[in-house]
Amino acid sequence: GYDLWLRYRPLPAAQVAAYAPEMQHLRMDVDSPARAAARDELSNALQGLLGSAPQPVDRMRPGTLVIGTPASSPWLAGLAADVDGLGDEGFLVRRMRVDGQPAIVIAANADAGLVYGTFRFLRLLQTGQSLEALDLREAPRVKLRVLNHWDDLNRYVERGYSGQSIWDWHRLPGWLDPRYTDYARANASIGINGTVLNNVNANARILTPQYLEKVRALAGVMRPYGIRVYLSARFSAPMEIGGLATSDPLDPEVQRWWKAKADEIYGLIPDFGGFLVKANSEGQPGPQDYGRSHADGANLLADALAPHGGVVMWRAFVYSEEEPDDRHKQAYNEFVPHDGEFRDNVLVQVKNGAIDFQPREPFHPLFGAMPRTPLVMEFQITKEYLGFSTHLAYKGTLYEEVLRADTRVDGEGSTVANVVDGSLHGHVLSGMAGVANIGSDRSWSGSHFDQANWYAYGRLAWDPDLSSRAIAEEWVRMTFSNDPALVAPVVGMMMDSREAVVDYTGALGLHHLMGRGHHYGPGPWVDGGPRADWTSVYYHRATGEGIGFDRTTGGSDAVSQYAPELAAVFDDPTRVPEEFLLWFHHVPWDHPMRSGQPLWDELVMRYDRGVDTVRRMRATWDALQEHVDGERHRQVAAFLAIQENEAQWWRDASIAYFQTFARRPLPAGHAPPP
Ligand code: GCU
Repeated sequence: GYDLWLRYRPLPAAQVAAYAPEMQHLRMDVDSPARAAARDELSNALQGLLGSAPQPVDRMRPGTLVIGTPASSPWLAGLAADVDGLGDEGFLVRRMRVDGQPAIVIAANADAGLVYGTFRFLRLLQTGQSLEALDLREAPRVKLRVLNHWDDLNRYVERGYSGQSIWDWHRLPGWLDPRYTDYARANASIGINGTVLNNVNANARILTPQYLEKVRALAGVMRPYGIRVYLSARFSAPMEIGGLATSDPLDPEVQRWWKAKADEIYGLIPDFGGFLVKANSEGQPGPQDYGRSHADGANLLADALAPHGGVVMWRAFVYSEEEPDDRHKQAYNEFVPHDGEFRDNVLVQVKNGAIDFQPREPFHPLFGAMPRTPLVMEFQITKEYLGFSTHLAYKGTLYEEVLRADTRVDGEGSTVANVVDGSLHGHVLSGMAGVANIGSDRSWSGSHFDQANWYAYGRLAWDPDLSSRAIAEEWVRMTFSNDPALVAPVVGMMMDSREAVVDYTGALGLHHLMGRGHHYGPGPWVDGGPRADWTSVYYHRATGEGIGFDRTTGGSDAVSQYAPELAAVFDDPTRVPEEFLLWFHHVPWDHPMRSGQPLWDELVMRYDRGVDTVRRMRATWDALQEHVDGERHRQVAAFLAIQENEAQWWRDASIAYFQTFARRPLPAGHAPPP
C-alpha cells in the first residue's frame, strides 16, 4: 500500500505496445528542482509502466515527449496563446507536431503547471486511456488546495487512525525522511498545493525558532512539488512564547509581536503560506477572551502576513461559552455579522455541515451567507464519525453531495461549489481544506480504501464539479488494476459504502449518536456531562411520541439561516428531503414516509439496509480474490468482516434503544440479531 495510486506496475503488453513508441525520447530543459522532480517522476513511471524511461534528446525525433514553457522553449513558442489564461498551475497535454515531428507535448506557463501536467499525463497511461485525440487543457478552479494535519508535536494525531504523525519533529531538520518526498509527490499528483503541518488545537512552540528550522526543512522538500507549508497558530502565542502580558489583538505590542514573528518566518521560508486558526472554540484562546471579534483576531494576523503575501484561514467551527439553544446556529450567528470586516488576505474556513463531520449533514448555512468573505470548504478526510480506518466508506460521494447542493442565495445554480471556488461572489481567493488521514502506517491512511478519500479530496479541490464515480474509477484503476472484472464491482462497492454507514449509524437526518469522546461505536443513549450539546439525546430528542430535532421556524429556527426558498423546503415536513427529515423536524413515530411505511418501520428498514449493504460489499470483495494481490486482499477482507460485525452492533444497539421510546414491534422482515 505504500505506493498509493502511484504504483507504476507494468501495463499489459498491448498497452505497452501502443504507448511506448510515442515516448522514447524526452526533450525538456531541466533547470529547476521542480522540473527535475517532474522529469524523475516521468522516468520512474515510464520505467515501471512500460519497461523503459525516455532518453533525453536535444533535437526532435519521432516518439518524443516535449515538456516546457512556451516562454522559455523555442520549440513550444507557438503555444503561447494556448497556455494564456492557464495561470501558473494550469497546463496542456496535447498530441501535435513539433519541428515537423509527431510529439506529445506538456506545456505550461510555470514549473507548477509542468509538474501537474506530468502527473496528468501519467494518469492517462495508468488508467489505460487512448492517446489518439489527446488534447487536454486544465487549470484548477480553487486556488488554495490544502491538507490540514491535526498532528501534535509529540506525533500524536488527533482523530488520526493510521499511526503516528509522519512529521518526525525529533529528527528534523537533520534527517529528511524520504517519506516526505513521497508525500509531496502523492499530493502534487492530485493537485494539492498546501499543507498545514500541525493541529488546529495548536501548540505555540511550533512558532519558536527551534521548530521553525524544522518547518523550513519540510518546506524545502515540498517546494519543488508546488506545495507551500502553513502553520496552525495559537492565538495566545504572544503570551506563551513571547513573554507578553496579553494577546489582545488591539494591543500595539501584540501587533508588533505578530509582525516580527511573520518577518522571522518569511526570512526562513519565503513562500510560507500563512496561518490556520481555531479560536474561541472548544477551549482554545481567541479574540473573544478580550471582548474582540473574530474579525479583530483574524485581521491581526492578516496584517502581519500581508507584506509577505501570506493568508489567514480563520475557522468558523466555534462554540460559544454559553450553551446555545441550537448548536447548529452558532457559527452563522457569530460570523455573518462580521461579513465585510475581514482583510483581503483572510479566508473563513467552514466545515461542510453545521455540526461536525457527521456521515450526512445538510450543507453549512454559512455557504452563501457571507458574500463579502471568501469561504474555505473544510472536509474531513479522516473518518472520525464513519468508522475510523477499519470501515470502508468512500467519502467522494459525501463531498460531491455537499459541493453540488444549491444554496439558492442568488437564484438557482448558486451551488456550494460556486461559493467555494469564488465564482458566485467574485472572489480572487478561494480554498478547500481536507483534514488529513495520513500517518506513519505503511499504507499511509490506515486502510487501502482510505487512500481513496485522500485522492478524491484532492481531485475535487482541483475541480469541485468532478463526479465522485469518475474519481473512484480513476483511483481503482491506478490502485488495483484496469481489469473491467475488478473495476466495475469495486467502484460499485465504493459508491454504496457511505450510504451504508449513514444507514447503520442513523439515517433520515439523525446525527451525533456515537459513543462519547472516542466517537467510534453507537451511543444514542449518551446523556449528561459538561454540556448538553455534547450528548446524543440533545440531537435525537426521542420521546414516547416521536423523534428528531425541531429546527423549523416554530422550533430552533435554524432553517431561517438558509436562503428563503430553501428554508421553506426544509421547514415543511412534506417537502424536506427525507434524508434530512429528523435533522429539521420532530415527528411522531408513525409519521408517514414516502415508502408508505410509518417512520419507525422505515428507520428499522434503513438500519437493516445498512448492514445488508456491508454484507454485499464483503461478498463482492471475496469474489475478487484472484484479481487482487493476497496481502491487500486479505487486509480489506478482514476489515470488511470487522465492519459487518460493527454495523450489526450499531443497528442492534440503536434499534433496541429507540424501541424503548417507540414501543412498537419490529416490522416484519427485520432480521433479528444472530
Ligand atoms: C471535532 C473533533 C475534535 C477537533 C474539532 C475541530 O470536534 O472531535 O477533535 O479538534 O472537531 O475541528 O476543531
